[in-house]
Amino acid sequence: MGKIYHLIKEVARLIANHSIGNGIRKIFFKISGVKIGKKVFVNQGLVIVDNGKKHMVILEDYVTLAPRITIITRSSPYNIHPSLRKEDLPIKEGKVIIGEGSWIGTNVTILPNVKIGKCCIIGANSLVTKDIPDYSIAFGIPAKPIRNLKDGNNKPK
Ligand SMILES: CC(C)(COP(=O)(O)OP(=O)(O)OC[C@H]1O[C@@H](n2cnc3c(N)ncnc32)[C@H](O)[C@@H]1OP(=O)(O)O)[C@@H](O)C(=O)NCCC(=O)NCCS
Repeated sequence: MGKIYHLIKEVARLIANHSIGNGIRKIFFKISGVKIGKKVFVNQGLVIVDNGKKHMVILEDYVTLAPRITIITRSSPYNIHPSLRKEDLPIKEGKVIIGEGSWIGTNVTILPNVKIGKCCIIGANSLVTKDIPDYSIAFGIPAKPIRNLKDGNNKPK
């Protein structure tokens, strides 16, 4: 990735996160390489850590992101101590896809190579380490599906 593109991406994200309003935020996140579908709502404080490639984060139609979400598509220490070899480290990389109609609660962190299915709800403060099946309500560290929105048993107890 060229240095100019990297600079544009970083500036676009900075502007996005200092913008009032979903519409402006989405424009700048799109410029920074995020793929965003129709009727998506991006709240304040979205942090994306990536490798600079385009469309590593995909927000499908009707996705809602609550405030302060972190999405990581590349996890690798840039500055490791010389006594450690990169091959020995748990470096992870992969797209994060949030499926159509899903709602991600506040303070959620999503790790690389995760697909959250269609129409899921991810509870506040969760850490999503693995794929989440369609229509799941999932939460926790790590996030686990606890109910399915299609099983007719969705009322809180
Ligand atoms: C995940 C969520 C939708 C579940 O709602 P619910 O189905 O009504 O669940 P309940 O409130 O009945 O809670 C059921 C159990 O799960 C626990 N729980 C609920 N949400 C949790 C979460 N995010 N993390 C850990 N545990 C959670 C409750 O403490 C309760 O535990 P108990 O059975 O031991 O008492 C909701 O708790 C949540 O996290 N919503 C996101 C809120 C948010 O971020 N809003 C942003 C505004 S845009």
